[in-house]
Amino acid sequence: LASVEYDLTKIEPGLQVTINWRGKPLFIRYRTPEQIAAAVKDDHSPSLKDPQTDAERHKPGKAQWLVLVGSCTHLGCVPTVGGGDYGGWFCPCHGSHYDTSGRIRKGPAPKNLVVPEYAFLSDTKVKIG
Ligand code: FES
Repeated sequence: LASVEYDLTKIEPGLQVTINWRGKPLFIRYRTPEQIAAAVKDDHSPSLKDPQTDAERHKPGKAQWLVLVGSCTHLGCVPTVGGGDYGGWFCPCHGSHYDTSGRIRKGPAPKNLVVPEYAFLSDTKVKIG
């Protein structure tokens, strides 16, 4: 199956790009230190339905970069970046709230946003798939 490469220098801190990958939206978000800290602070929160630490959701030493399949784990709508009670993503279809690690915190979605297989080719380039 096709993989895709992306030049990370095109993304501003705090923002996300959405690219098409295998017919699905894929989010690449450049997190600020505040967004990373907010995620790490909740690593052991009882409101994590699908418990994972923030460190399990990014590559070692690359906490600023989050790569996620942009498909709500409830019924597949595309969540909106920056929304919801946890400042991560909000799915408008039935109200699922994801945190800045892409973990499900509230609403009907059962699982965290999926982290696809990807690798850093250099400090500024990732290959997804
Ligand atoms: Fe996202 Fe239902 S598809 S909450």
